[in-house]
Order: sequence, then C-alpha cells, then structure tokens
Amino acid sequence: MKKLLSMVLALVLVLGLSSVSLAAGPTIGVCVYKFDDTFMTGVRNAISKAAEGIAEAQIVDSQNAQATQNDQVIMFVDQGFDGVAINPVDRTACAEISKKTEAAGIPVVYFNREPIAEEMTDFDNWYYVGAKAEESGTMSGQILVDYFTAHPEAIPEDGVIRYVMLQGEPGHQDAELRSIYSIKCLEDAGFTLEALAVDTAHWNRIEGMEKMTAWLAAFGDKIDCVLANNDDMALGAIEALKAEGYFTEGKFMPVVGVDATAPALEALKEGTLLGTVLNDAANQGAATLLLTVAAVNGDFTGFPYEIVDDHYVWVPYQMVTEENYTDFE
Ligand code: GAL
Repeated sequence: MKKLLSMVLALVLVLGLSSVSLAAGPTIGVCVYKFDDTFMTGVRNAISKAAEGIAEAQIVDSQNAQATQNDQVIMFVDQGFDGVAINPVDRTACAEISKKTEAAGIPVVYFNREPIAEEMTDFDNWYYVGAKAEESGTMSGQILVDYFTAHPEAIPEDGVIRYVMLQGEPGHQDAELRSIYSIKCLEDAGFTLEALAVDTAHWNRIEGMEKMTAWLAAFGDKIDCVLANNDDMALGAIEALKAEGYFTEGKFMPVVGVDATAPALEALKEGTLLGTVLNDAANQGAATLLLTVAAVNGDFTGFPYEIVDDHYVWVPYQMVTEENYTDFE
C-alpha cells in the first residue's frame, strides 16, 4: 500500500498532475482466466464497479495460461497487494496459489472456477464465490421439460427425445454438472433421452456453430433439441440452425443455454433461443470484491452475502424464458 502511494505521488511530481485521487481502501489484485469471455466480462465489470470508492482493484488478463496467472499472483504478492481475487485458469491450481498467498499472509478469494475441496484442507484464508452448477443444469433441463410437456407433438413417435449437447471446458465444474443435471432433470420428469452427439466447444460461439453445423450434416432432422452449457455456444448453434432454414416457416428447434447474457436475451426476444438460466454476474462480481475487502480487513460486518462452511458464497441461478426475460434486460 505504502509503495503504491509513493508511486502515485512520484507520478504526480513527474507528470505535474494536479488532481490525482489517491487510492481509497485496500489494494486488491484480480486475475481473470481470460478477458475474451462474454460472461466473465460481466463479472469483471461488476468487480470494477463494486470497487469504486472502497478499494483499488487492479484486474489482469491471465490469457488462459496458468503459468501466466501464477506469475501474476507472484507479482501481486511481491508488490505488497493487500488481497487477491483469482478466477483460476485451471481449478486444480488453487492449492499452489494458496501456498503463495498464505506465505504472504494475505487472503485469496477464488471465483467462478471452484477449487477442489480435498486439495484445500491445508489452507485457511481462502474463499470461493460462485453458483451451484447443478442448479443451472436442473433449470436448463426444466425449460425443456416444460417445452416437451406443452408440445408432445415435438417428441418422435418412438417416444425417444434425441439431443445434441455443447459442453464447456473439460474439467470445469459448470460444464460437468450442467451436462449431468440437465439430462437428469428430463429423465426424472419421465422422458426417455438419447444422445446423438456430446462434445466440448470450450464456451465458445464459433466452435459451437462449427460443431452444430457438423451435427446437422450428420443427423439432420433426427435432432429434437440442443443443450448448451452456456449462451455463447447456444447462439453459435442457433447460427448454424438458421443457415439450415430453422426459425422460419414454422421450423423450430428448442435450444437452451446458460448465463442470460445480453445477446442471449436478444435471441429470446426474437424467438430463436428457447430459454436460458441467469448466471448472476453482477452479484458474483460484487460478492467477490466485497468478500476480498472484508477478508483483508478481517471484518465481515455488513458483508451482504451468507458465507457457508467458512469458505463459500453461493449466488443463486434463475430460470429465464420468454415469460420473464424482460425482467433481466
Ligand atoms: C461459466 C459461464 C461460461 C464461462 C465460464 C468461464 O460459469 O457459464 O459462459 O464464462 O463460466 O469459466
């Protein structure tokens, strides 16, 4: 902190600046696994907003490389930052990061990519802010349960619903649990499912479009629905479907995503995306920043979220369909 203040003062002297506002509150170093990710951009903006007037947050892009992120953590520690908030590139790297922050005596708040609990038992001063991935899986499954219940004519005569699934990054808790719980929800509701194709598109819209184009070529109208672990991939699938004449002249394909990003809400409005699940970037970002500040100060009075099992803050998901999407715009 002192180092930072003297650097700012030096800048004022060198550049002759007359009005530089000195940092208020603690210095927080924030790593985002990569800036080029639609949902994480929302979280990043929420962190910056929450920091206004209460902390000096420096947010860096780990460029999807764990080695780069490790160097960034070391840099924050060496520069005397008061706390760090880390969106790990690889969630199995959290123990290594906690070794560094505990040695430096500063707290770390992980967010969006959940540390593996068994790897964290040696550490105390860490937290996780995220959402229960299984909840989002169940909700996206429920959107399809509601659709097929209201449209029994969309179920093939043999009673088997054939789906394709676009998954997020392998190893990510959201990819794994959304994939499992969405199908489980449909099966628990009494539907019979068959997977035509399941593959990763790494949360990415272009990869989603490419995979869907290939699946349409391979399976054509055997596909009854598309499940995507996030909205970007769902929107990529919708582009591929549009190119095959879907969403015109009564030709429809139920596609569900997760996140409720602005372009997904647009797609809901135009009637191409069947539904999505709000992954609450605003609250996840705010909780991350406020929790890091509280942990730095060792004072959690007034922290507006519940801390579960000493480490976890869970931000709830919400189902978003044509009935309620305007509440989220
Ligand atoms: C998920 C989100 C994805 C992607 C990922 C990054 O929660 O649904 O769109 O942003 O996090 O870790």
